[in-house]
Amino acid sequence: MKSLILDSSTRLLVLTGAGVSAESGVPTFRGMGGLWENRPVEEVASPQGFTEDPVRVWRFYSQRREGAAGVHPNPGHTALAEWERHLGDRFLLATQNVDGLHQRAGSQRVVEMHGNLFKTRCSNCERPPMDDTTVYPEGTVPRCGACGGSLRPHIVWFGENLDEADLGRIGEFLTRGDGKLVFLAAGTSGAVWPAAGLVDQVRKLGGETWLVNFDPPENAERFRHFVQGRSGELLPRLATLA
Ligand code: OAD
Repeated sequence: MKSLILDSSTRLLVLTGAGVSAESGVPTFRGMGGLWENRPVEEVASPQGFTEDPVRVWRFYSQRREGAAGVHPNPGHTALAEWERHLGDRFLLATQNVDGLHQRAGSQRVVEMHGNLFKTRCSNCERPPMDDTTVYPEGTVPRCGACGGSLRPHIVWFGENLDEADLGRIGEFLTRGDGKLVFLAAGTSGAVWPAAGLVDQVRKLGGETWLVNFDPPENAERFRHFVQGRSGELLPRLATLA
Protein backbone atom coordinates (compact mmCIF):
# COMPACT_ATOMS: atom_id res chain seq x y z
CA MET A 1 0.00 0.00 0.00
CA LYS A 2 1.17 3.57 -0.74
CA SER A 3 2.35 5.45 2.31
CA LEU A 4 1.43 8.97 3.35
CA ILE A 5 4.58 10.54 4.79
CA LEU A 6 3.91 12.81 7.75
CA ASP A 7 7.21 14.51 8.48
CA SER A 8 8.32 17.78 10.05
CA SER A 9 7.38 19.74 6.92
CA THR A 10 3.88 18.31 6.45
CA ARG A 11 0.80 20.51 6.94
CA LEU A 12 -2.17 18.13 6.79
CA LEU A 13 -5.83 18.95 6.32
CA VAL A 14 -8.11 15.94 6.76
CA LEU A 15 -11.75 15.93 5.66
CA THR A 16 -13.98 13.18 6.98
CA GLY A 17 -17.50 12.07 6.19
CA ALA A 18 -20.01 9.51 7.35
CA GLY A 19 -17.95 6.57 6.06
CA VAL A 20 -15.36 7.11 8.81
CA SER A 21 -18.02 6.38 11.44
CA ALA A 22 -19.57 3.47 9.52
CA GLU A 23 -17.39 0.89 11.25
CA SER A 24 -18.52 2.31 14.60
CA GLY A 25 -22.08 1.44 13.60
CA VAL A 26 -23.30 4.92 12.61
CA PRO A 27 -25.30 4.73 9.34
CA THR A 28 -24.06 6.70 6.33
CA PHE A 29 -26.38 8.98 4.34
CA ARG A 30 -25.97 7.65 0.83
CA GLY A 31 -25.69 4.10 -0.45
CA MET A 32 -27.25 0.86 0.73
CA GLY A 33 -28.99 1.27 4.07
CA GLY A 34 -28.11 4.98 4.06
CA LEU A 35 -30.26 7.47 5.95
CA TRP A 36 -31.27 9.24 2.74
CA GLU A 37 -32.43 6.07 0.94
CA ASN A 38 -36.15 6.35 0.27
CA ARG A 39 -36.40 9.68 2.03
CA PRO A 40 -36.40 13.21 0.62
CA VAL A 41 -33.58 14.87 2.58
CA GLU A 42 -35.46 18.17 2.78
CA GLU A 43 -38.08 16.57 5.04
CA VAL A 44 -35.74 16.30 7.98
CA ALA A 45 -32.67 18.31 7.00
CA SER A 46 -33.88 21.69 5.80
CA PRO A 47 -35.37 24.83 7.41
CA GLN A 48 -38.56 24.28 5.35
CA GLY A 49 -38.86 20.71 6.65
CA PHE A 50 -38.59 22.02 10.20
CA THR A 51 -41.24 24.69 9.62
CA GLU A 52 -43.58 22.14 8.04
CA ASP A 53 -43.19 19.39 10.62
CA PRO A 54 -40.86 19.99 13.58
CA VAL A 55 -42.09 16.80 15.26
CA ARG A 56 -40.85 14.74 12.31
CA VAL A 57 -37.49 16.51 12.42
CA TRP A 58 -37.06 15.95 16.17
CA ARG A 59 -38.09 12.29 15.76
CA PHE A 60 -35.29 11.87 13.20
CA TYR A 61 -32.60 13.62 15.28
CA SER A 62 -33.69 11.95 18.51
CA GLN A 63 -33.23 8.61 16.75
CA ARG A 64 -29.78 9.74 15.59
CA ARG A 65 -28.90 10.76 19.17
CA GLU A 66 -30.07 7.44 20.50
CA GLY A 67 -28.01 5.57 17.90
CA ALA A 68 -24.86 7.66 18.29
CA ALA A 69 -24.86 7.56 22.09
CA GLY A 70 -24.04 3.86 22.23
CA VAL A 71 -21.21 3.80 19.69
CA HIS A 72 -17.46 4.11 20.10
CA PRO A 73 -14.61 5.52 18.02
CA ASN A 74 -13.00 2.99 15.67
CA PRO A 75 -9.34 2.58 14.66
CA GLY A 76 -9.81 5.15 11.85
CA HIS A 77 -10.73 7.86 14.37
CA THR A 78 -7.87 6.79 16.62
CA ALA A 79 -5.31 6.97 13.79
CA LEU A 80 -6.31 10.56 12.99
CA ALA A 81 -5.90 11.56 16.64
CA GLU A 82 -2.44 10.00 16.61
CA TRP A 83 -1.47 11.92 13.46
CA GLU A 84 -2.57 15.12 15.18
CA ARG A 85 -0.41 14.38 18.23
CA HIS A 86 2.54 13.98 15.84
CA LEU A 87 1.86 17.10 13.74
CA GLY A 88 0.42 19.48 16.35
CA ASP A 89 -0.62 22.80 14.78
CA ARG A 90 0.28 21.47 11.36
CA PHE A 91 -2.88 19.34 11.51
CA LEU A 92 -6.52 20.29 11.07
CA LEU A 93 -9.52 18.00 10.87
CA ALA A 94 -12.61 19.25 9.04
CA THR A 95 -15.47 16.86 9.56
CA GLN A 96 -18.95 16.67 8.10
CA ASN A 97 -19.83 14.23 10.88
CA VAL A 98 -21.96 15.43 13.76
CA ASP A 99 -21.50 12.38 16.01
CA GLY A 100 -18.59 13.71 18.11
CA LEU A 101 -16.56 10.51 17.63
CA HIS A 102 -13.40 12.31 16.51
CA GLN A 103 -13.26 14.29 19.75
CA ARG A 104 -13.98 11.16 21.76
CA ALA A 105 -10.99 9.50 20.03
CA GLY A 106 -8.77 12.39 21.16
CA SER A 107 -8.85 14.79 18.19
CA GLN A 108 -8.66 18.42 19.32
CA ARG A 109 -8.20 20.56 16.23
CA VAL A 110 -11.62 19.78 14.79
CA VAL A 111 -13.92 21.93 12.66
CA GLU A 112 -17.45 20.53 12.75
CA MET A 113 -18.61 21.84 9.39
CA HIS A 114 -22.16 20.50 9.75
CA GLY A 115 -22.69 21.16 13.45
CA ASN A 116 -23.07 18.73 16.33
CA LEU A 117 -25.78 16.19 17.03
CA PHE A 118 -25.47 16.74 20.77
CA LYS A 119 -26.15 20.46 20.62
CA THR A 120 -29.46 22.30 20.34
CA ARG A 121 -30.14 25.93 19.54
CA CYS A 122 -33.12 28.24 19.29
CA SER A 123 -34.70 28.67 15.86
CA ASN A 124 -35.86 32.13 16.91
CA CYS A 125 -33.40 33.96 19.16
CA GLU A 126 -29.61 34.40 19.22
CA ARG A 127 -29.03 32.40 22.39
CA PRO A 128 -25.81 30.36 21.93
CA PRO A 129 -26.16 26.63 21.17
CA MET A 130 -26.38 24.44 24.28
CA ASP A 131 -25.19 20.91 25.00
CA ASP A 132 -28.15 18.56 24.73
CA THR A 133 -28.12 14.78 24.64
CA THR A 134 -31.88 14.47 25.19
CA VAL A 135 -33.78 11.91 23.18
CA TYR A 136 -37.11 13.71 23.06
CA PRO A 137 -40.28 11.65 23.46
CA GLU A 138 -42.40 11.16 20.35
CA GLY A 139 -44.46 14.25 19.54
CA THR A 140 -42.22 16.71 21.40
CA VAL A 141 -40.79 19.98 20.13
CA PRO A 142 -38.64 21.50 22.88
CA ARG A 143 -39.07 25.22 23.62
CA CYS A 144 -36.50 27.91 24.27
CA GLY A 145 -36.36 28.95 27.92
CA ALA A 146 -35.37 32.48 26.88
CA CYS A 147 -37.89 33.38 24.16
CA GLY A 148 -40.35 30.48 23.94
CA GLY A 149 -39.43 29.74 20.30
CA SER A 150 -38.94 26.21 18.97
CA LEU A 151 -35.57 24.67 19.69
CA ARG A 152 -33.87 22.92 16.77
CA PRO A 153 -30.87 20.62 16.32
CA HIS A 154 -27.55 22.46 15.92
CA ILE A 155 -27.02 20.99 12.45
CA VAL A 156 -26.24 22.80 9.21
CA TRP A 157 -29.15 21.82 6.99
CA PHE A 158 -29.50 21.86 3.23
CA GLY A 159 -30.00 25.42 2.05
CA GLU A 160 -28.15 26.86 5.07
CA ASN A 161 -24.73 28.45 5.11
CA LEU A 162 -21.81 26.98 6.95
CA ASP A 163 -20.51 28.98 9.88
CA GLU A 164 -18.21 31.75 8.62
CA ALA A 165 -15.74 31.15 11.43
CA ASP A 166 -15.48 27.45 10.50
CA LEU A 167 -14.87 28.25 6.84
CA GLY A 168 -12.37 30.91 7.87
CA ARG A 169 -10.43 28.43 9.98
CA ILE A 170 -10.16 25.98 7.09
CA GLY A 171 -9.27 28.75 4.62
CA GLU A 172 -6.54 30.10 6.90
CA PHE A 173 -5.06 26.65 7.40
CA LEU A 174 -4.99 26.05 3.64
CA THR A 175 -3.32 29.33 2.76
CA ARG A 176 -0.94 29.57 5.71
CA GLY A 177 2.04 28.95 3.47
CA ASP A 178 4.33 27.04 5.83
CA GLY A 179 5.41 23.50 5.06
CA LYS A 180 4.08 21.15 2.42
CA LEU A 181 0.29 21.09 2.14
CA VAL A 182 -1.32 17.66 2.09
CA PHE A 183 -5.07 16.98 1.94
CA LEU A 184 -6.70 13.68 2.79
CA ALA A 185 -10.42 12.97 2.45
CA ALA A 186 -11.89 9.83 4.00
CA GLY A 187 -15.34 8.27 4.01
CA THR A 188 -17.14 10.96 2.07
CA SER A 189 -19.18 10.70 -1.13
CA GLY A 190 -18.08 14.08 -2.47
CA ALA A 191 -21.73 14.95 -3.06
CA VAL A 192 -22.09 17.87 -0.68
CA TRP A 193 -20.48 21.29 -1.03
CA PRO A 194 -18.38 23.11 0.03
CA ALA A 195 -16.60 20.03 1.44
CA ALA A 196 -16.55 18.35 -1.99
CA GLY A 197 -14.62 21.30 -3.44
CA LEU A 198 -11.77 21.29 -0.93
CA VAL A 199 -9.77 18.94 -3.15
CA ASP A 200 -9.83 21.54 -5.95
CA GLN A 201 -8.73 24.33 -3.62
CA VAL A 202 -5.80 22.21 -2.46
CA ARG A 203 -4.83 21.33 -6.03
CA LYS A 204 -4.80 25.01 -6.96
CA LEU A 205 -2.48 25.64 -4.03
CA GLY A 206 -0.16 22.89 -5.29
CA GLY A 207 -0.95 20.49 -2.43
CA GLU A 208 -0.86 16.71 -2.48
CA THR A 209 -4.28 14.99 -2.44
CA TRP A 210 -5.28 11.64 -0.95
CA LEU A 211 -8.59 9.82 -0.77
CA VAL A 212 -9.54 6.83 1.36
CA ASN A 213 -13.02 5.58 0.57
CA PHE A 214 -15.01 2.39 0.30
CA ASP A 215 -16.67 3.21 -3.06
CA PRO A 216 -15.15 5.49 -5.68
CA PRO A 217 -16.95 8.76 -4.85
CA GLU A 218 -18.21 11.39 -7.31
CA ASN A 219 -15.00 13.43 -7.19
CA ALA A 220 -12.52 10.51 -7.06
CA GLU A 221 -10.65 11.39 -10.24
CA ARG A 222 -9.73 14.79 -8.80
CA PHE A 223 -7.46 13.15 -6.19
CA ARG A 224 -3.85 12.19 -6.96
CA HIS A 225 -3.91 9.10 -4.72
CA PHE A 226 -6.98 6.93 -4.14
CA VAL A 227 -6.76 4.06 -1.66
CA GLN A 228 -9.98 2.06 -1.80
CA GLY A 229 -11.33 0.27 1.25
CA ARG A 230 -12.57 0.81 4.79
CA SER A 231 -11.09 3.73 6.69
CA GLY A 232 -11.01 1.81 9.98
CA GLU A 233 -8.68 -0.70 8.34
CA LEU A 234 -6.70 1.61 6.07
CA LEU A 235 -6.05 4.78 8.08
CA PRO A 236 -4.08 3.00 10.83
CA ARG A 237 -1.75 1.57 8.14
CA LEU A 238 -1.58 4.49 5.72
CA ALA A 239 0.80 6.97 7.31
CA THR A 240 4.51 6.89 8.06
CA LEU A 241 5.23 9.23 10.96
CA ALA A 242 8.69 10.63 10.38
P1 OAD B 1 -22.30 9.88 2.51
O1 OAD B 1 -23.26 8.95 3.16
O2 OAD B 1 -22.79 10.71 1.38
O3 OAD B 1 -21.07 9.06 1.95
C1 OAD B 1 -20.37 8.14 2.73
C2 OAD B 1 -19.18 7.62 1.93
O4 OAD B 1 -18.42 6.80 2.78
C3 OAD B 1 -19.56 6.79 0.71
O5 OAD B 1 -18.80 7.24 -0.42
C4 OAD B 1 -19.12 5.36 1.08
O6 OAD B 1 -18.57 4.62 0.00
C5 OAD B 1 -18.04 5.63 2.09
N1 OAD B 1 -17.88 4.58 3.11
C6 OAD B 1 -18.81 3.78 3.66
N2 OAD B 1 -18.28 3.00 4.60
C7 OAD B 1 -16.96 3.30 4.63
C8 OAD B 1 -15.85 2.84 5.38
N3 OAD B 1 -15.97 1.91 6.32
N4 OAD B 1 -14.64 3.39 5.14
C9 OAD B 1 -14.48 4.35 4.20
N5 OAD B 1 -15.48 4.82 3.45
C10 OAD B 1 -16.70 4.31 3.67
O7 OAD B 1 -21.66 10.76 3.67
P2 OAD B 1 -20.99 12.20 3.61
O8 OAD B 1 -20.10 12.35 2.43
O9 OAD B 1 -20.43 12.46 4.96
O10 OAD B 1 -25.21 16.44 5.75
O11 OAD B 1 -22.26 13.12 3.42
C11 OAD B 1 -22.07 14.50 3.40
C12 OAD B 1 -23.25 15.17 4.04
O12 OAD B 1 -24.44 14.78 3.38
C13 OAD B 1 -23.51 14.78 5.50
O13 OAD B 1 -22.77 15.54 6.40
C14 OAD B 1 -24.97 15.03 5.66
C15 OAD B 1 -25.44 14.46 4.35
O14 OAD B 1 -26.62 14.92 3.87
C16 OAD B 1 -26.23 16.89 6.50
O15 OAD B 1 -26.94 16.17 7.17
C17 OAD B 1 -26.41 18.36 6.47
